[in-house]
Amino acid sequence: MTKPAWQATILTLFPEMFPGPLGASLAGKSLKGGIWALKTLDIRQFASDKHRTVDDAPLGGGVGMVLKPDVVAAALDHVAEASGPRIYLTPRGRPLDQPLVRELAQAEGTVFLCGRYEGVDQRVIDAAGMMEVSIGDYILSGGEMAALTVIDAVVRLLPGVIGKEASHREESFETGLLEPALYTQPRDWNGIQAPEILASGHHRKIAEWRQVEAERETQTRRPDLWQRHLQTQVSESKKQ
Ligand code: ADE
Repeated sequence: MTKPAWQATILTLFPEMFPGPLGASLAGKSLKGGIWALKTLDIRQFASDKHRTVDDAPLGGGVGMVLKPDVVAAALDHVAEASGPRIYLTPRGRPLDQPLVRELAQAEGTVFLCGRYEGVDQRVIDAAGMMEVSIGDYILSGGEMAALTVIDAVVRLLPGVIGKEASHREESFETGLLEPALYTQPRDWNGIQAPEILASGHHRKIAEWRQVEAERETQTRRPDLWQRHLQTQVSESKKQ
């Protein structure tokens, strides 16, 4: 079998959480087909005492426990050969977005460190030069669900995972706009009509309608995305 296009290496206290939902659907099929690979490593195996202690109380006091730097460093050393960026999943990190997902998909793989309890000693994160990434402004019980989310977003970009048509749609989203609403048959559902233009068969007019809708919906639903879209258009036009 040829080498997988991408490998996820996961350092976690709960290896049984993987592949989890990534074992189903397109991600699962492409995992079984060898397009990408998944390697999990139990952080607890790097504990050095007989009780297999991985955490300790936070210095300076406070609630919860902190993953010990020596244990995490030993786990990171063990995967030193794995290629690609090192990501620590934390609500303190850089917010995940599609440009970051694309960047990760370009690499040969990614190493994910999943925190539990209150988090990981910052010194080991800094010493390893890890990228800190958040999947949103809410607190999960650990980094595992966040890692699953990042991997799902990356895997669907790997060559051969989704069909040509869907990847074309992906490209049309490059402009940073939300997608317009979708409709299917019947055109009249419970007396509610799908937009007439979509049944017209007029491809150019449909494409124009979708563009207008994408802009209108982005403005009203996500003013933050709309502002960024306008800024990238300004900088694109300056380049030309
Ligand atoms: N760990 C806990 N909450 C998280 C979040 N929102 N993003 C990434 N990792 C996390």
